[in-house]
Amino acid sequence: MTKLQIVDHPLIQHKLTLMRDKATGTKDFRQMLDEIAMLLGYEVTRGFALKDKAIETPLEPMIGKELASKVTIVPILRAGVGMVDGLLKLLPTARVGHIGLYRDEETHNPVFYYCKLPQDIAETMVIVSDPMLATGGSAVDAINKLKEHGCKNIRMMCLVAAPEGVKRLSEEHPDVDIITAALDDHLNENAYIVPGLGDAGDRIYGTK
Ligand code: PRP
Ligand code: URA
Repeated sequence: MTKLQIVDHPLIQHKLTLMRDKATGTKDFRQMLDEIAMLLGYEVTRGFALKDKAIETPLEPMIGKELASKVTIVPILRAGVGMVDGLLKLLPTARVGHIGLYRDEETHNPVFYYCKLPQDIAETMVIVSDPMLATGGSAVDAINKLKEHGCKNIRMMCLVAAPEGVKRLSEEHPDVDIITAALDDHLNENAYIVPGLGDAGDRIYGTK
């Protein structure tokens, strides 16, 4: 069953409020997203399995620990890319795959346009990044694609989630945990999250 984790760390909540503020410009929005992604990454990776590793300290041999599996970060284009660098600061050897989806403005359904994933992704721990989980359609389709490629261990990392998106994702992919900085109130008639932060892609890339 899906575990929903809302990470209410004071630094994350402080930075998220700056991001929500419509007066915050592209440069600061991008920087806050990068910083929050790193902080969220700490929680996203908390349950990762470890295996023993024999090493020698300057004093004696010992059995240490290392991550049992490689990690793949999969941003959903475009906005998910804004969370990749923050995650790579914690996981510098992670691979990065990309899935391209955009929402049709009328139907709000995701339209698929790109997929490039590491060949051995099925054997890795996968973190899907996308700041906005609104209707959940984009996350569900991205995870469908990952499962077609054999992925079994997937986590969804977002910044702001709507109850509608959490419900849909947990019904369609109950094995995928959701880690978010906030669970907002509802979706409006245009399927935007309220209060939300607006269009994440446009605010990251300055396209509106
Ligand atoms: C946004 C966001 C998610 C999606 C969420 O992307 O980054 O991918 O909408 O909405 P959903 O949960 O209802 O599917 P958008 O389609 O605006 O594309 P963009 O990132 O290229 O701007
Ligand atoms: N996509 C966004 O960027 N923002 C929303 O509120 C919903 C979908």
